[in-house]
Amino acid sequence: MAFILAAAASAIGLGNLWRFPYLAAQYGGGIFIVIYLALVMTLGFTLMTTEIAIGRSTLQSQLTAYSRLHKSFGFLGLIGTLVPLLIVSYYCVIGGWVVKYLVAYAEMVFGNANLMGEAAADSAAFFSGFISAPFAPFAYSLIFILACAGIIVLGVKNGIEKSNTIMMPALFILAIVISVYVICLPGAKEGLAYYLIPNTDSLRAADGSFSIALLAKTILGAMGQMFYSLSLAMGIMITYGSYMRKTDCIELSVRRIEIFDTLISVIAGLMIIPGVYIFAAKSGLPIKEAMNAGPGLMFITLPKVFASIGSAGPIIGLAFFALVTFAAATSAISLYEACVASLCDHIRIDRKAATFFVGSLIAFLATFSALGYGAWGHITLFGWQFLDFFDFVTNSVIMPILAALTCIFVGWILKPKAIIDECEECGHTFKSRRLYTVMVKWIAPLLVVAILISEVIRALFPSLWSI
Ligand code: TRP
Repeated sequence: MAFILAAAASAIGLGNLWRFPYLAAQYGGGIFIVIYLALVMTLGFTLMTTEIAIGRSTLQSQLTAYSRLHKSFGFLGLIGTLVPLLIVSYYCVIGGWVVKYLVAYAEMVFGNANLMGEAAADSAAFFSGFISAPFAPFAYSLIFILACAGIIVLGVKNGIEKSNTIMMPALFILAIVISVYVICLPGAKEGLAYYLIPNTDSLRAADGSFSIALLAKTILGAMGQMFYSLSLAMGIMITYGSYMRKTDCIELSVRRIEIFDTLISVIAGLMIIPGVYIFAAKSGLPIKEAMNAGPGLMFITLPKVFASIGSAGPIIGLAFFALVTFAAATSAISLYEACVASLCDHIRIDRKAATFFVGSLIAFLATFSALGYGAWGHITLFGWQFLDFFDFVTNSVIMPILAALTCIFVGWILKPKAIIDECEECGHTFKSRRLYTVMVKWIAPLLVVAILISEVIRALFPSLWSI
């Protein structure tokens, strides 16, 4: 249970609460959920099982696990170790935004301030004002990094596991309370139907004909989201697997982690999408436009939803951002810890010093992302802000390359049997043997290469992608 809780704490994060709802809203609601579930149960299952089994059989963290299995694949571990560092540096910046919103809602509830109410500054202005401020985004990400460092310094048992046993149940309870509240609001039905009942409307072109391109885009979107949400293809799950006992069942644990993670994503949509429908109907905003808010859905549209539900709005907002803060913190801690653990394993350095060193590095890298929308807005990398660039390089380039090479290595060189045998160490038969073998050899590498190609096309030729 401690293992599943720890892995779930790593997996459940901004990906579930911020990314999943806006993608689901954009890509047609119910149909996106169906495709997402199918991918989690097949592709996600295959990759997570592979990573955990590699970790448990080598007893190494990601940096050295691959070289233990095969000399020429050791470089995969090195790439896998760099990714958490790059991700955590921008993750903490978004974590800082979330803390800013938590503070703002606390001010609204306790100080009766009117920061984002209907009469006050528009939430879009609030958001862009904050992220483009000269210093505030950096200060808030520093607060977030320091809080994570405080927990990491205490160690895995006293710091990380203890904080998980408080934050994770709190997260579940808040998610359920808020979603029940939103679903019970008048007018929520329509949004609920869009979100839960699959139909193919979103896959039809303007003339009503079925569009393969739209279907491919939806599948690719769901696939990228699945990798991100389950913390896959970064070696994180290898490190987690190395802590697992031989008597624990890998297959069962993977299924449970997937269920927890997906449940929170689906509940996040239940909190947000019906709310956006109610708000759109009240304010006369076309629903299509509201649903296409993208990354701004949580930071711009949602505060408007809270403002539109009257006096309870700020309280619900405060609870919501407390929930997001918990989820973001547990994931950031897992990323941060992966870097600290790699360092402690390979260099003789004390945990406190390693936490300080990695924290300083994260803070340094975070500065670029934090100030990239404001003070340093004029500096771009290949036309991108720093945050978007880090996100693209990690999630769209390194991650698919790493995942594809891992599948090719396991499917063709190590052979799936090695992984299946590791999964059967606990004494249970591995039920998904056929599914696993076909996925890891053929389907997973193809799908993952498709992500890579499509992401590169999207980056280089945005106009082609929008067709
Ligand atoms: N899964 C996390 C989320 O949903 C994000 C994430 C991606 C992550 N890779 C990770 C977290 C590795 C911890 C470790 O927000």
